Amino acid sequence: MLDWTDRHYRFMARQITRNTWLYSEMVNSGAVVYGDKDRFLSFNEGEQPVALQLGGSDPHDLAIAAKAAETYGYNEVNLNCGCPSPRVQKGAFGACLMNDVDLVADCLNAMQDAVEIPVTVKHRIGVDRQTEYQVVADFVGMLREKTACRTYIVHARNAWLDGLSPKENREVPPLKYEYVYRLKQEFPDLEILINGGITTNEEIAEHLKFVDGVMIGREAYHNPMLMRDWDARFYNDTHAPIQYADLAAWLYAYSREQIASGRGTILRHIVRHALGLMHSLKNARTWRRMLSDAALLKDNDGSLILDAWKEVERANIWD
Ligand SMILES: Cc1cc2nc3c(=O)[nH]c(=O)nc-3n(C[C@H](O)[C@H](O)[C@H](O)COP(=O)(O)O)c2cc1C
Repeated sequence: MLDWTDRHYRFMARQITRNTWLYSEMVNSGAVVYGDKDRFLSFNEGEQPVALQLGGSDPHDLAIAAKAAETYGYNEVNLNCGCPSPRVQKGAFGACLMNDVDLVADCLNAMQDAVEIPVTVKHRIGVDRQTEYQVVADFVGMLREKTACRTYIVHARNAWLDGLSPKENREVPPLKYEYVYRLKQEFPDLEILINGGITTNEEIAEHLKFVDGVMIGREAYHNPMLMRDWDARFYNDTHAPIQYADLAAWLYAYSREQIASGRGTILRHIVRHALGLMHSLKNARTWRRMLSDAALLKDNDGSLILDAWKEVERANIWD
């Protein structure tokens, strides 16, 4: 998610769940090809499994960017066919690619020819007023035939390219989970993942009866500790889940190390992703307030995290 799932957020998420696949922000393929690769691609050792999501519609650039992702150690590269933002539309990629399945096939084939890691796609169930199931079925069916792509992450609502903001495009077009379930029924050999409006572990478990995987966006960002149960519940991993106190201590150590690394990281770059960490605990609001207070952040001193944690710790009863 743009501006949200940068390497700091993802590394924090990795402390909470060992197994969940993490996805980068969408990175423009041109930025990778012609820009500062380190800035767009570097990540923390230990963050994997991690996928790089690319935005673009030029098969040549996408192939070079995919290769760079593989070289940096990404485990998957994903093509965005779901973003409705006007800026992305101007670049003729994102959701409007759903109207040009041949071009999507060319892009995916060029990318897959360049790398060994899986190339996957994230898309909507249609664009604008295309409301029939057949629209998404044809899109997936064509790509299945013409490409080696076997993993489809489906945001279960349309993208309305005209008249809705990106935010409204995540809320207004109705969710149609049944379309995604039907894709899995019709294409059982494909890996079909569902996305959109899913916020609880009970909902995830329910969806997993019908599809191969679930992608969680906003809730995993606003309430990261939701992911704490995922290893045990969905991956059969018996490691004990991380404690809040350990996570606060980790965040403190990580912030100090990153600030000291000389890469220009400041405390705010890291803690802004941790505001929801204490979600549902007493004094969560104090945690959030302290870690977003410009006056407190300006010293760039990670001890602020420990101070904020003390406020949470003393207000809660721990077992
Ligand atoms: C701030 C923000 C940025 C997003 N950026 C991307 C992106 O870069 N690539 C993408 O495929 N989806 C992006 N999305 C959409 C989410 O991945 C997801 O499809 C959508 O929010 C619905 O899932 P959710 O209800 O679990 O959040 C973004 C969403 C938000 C809120």
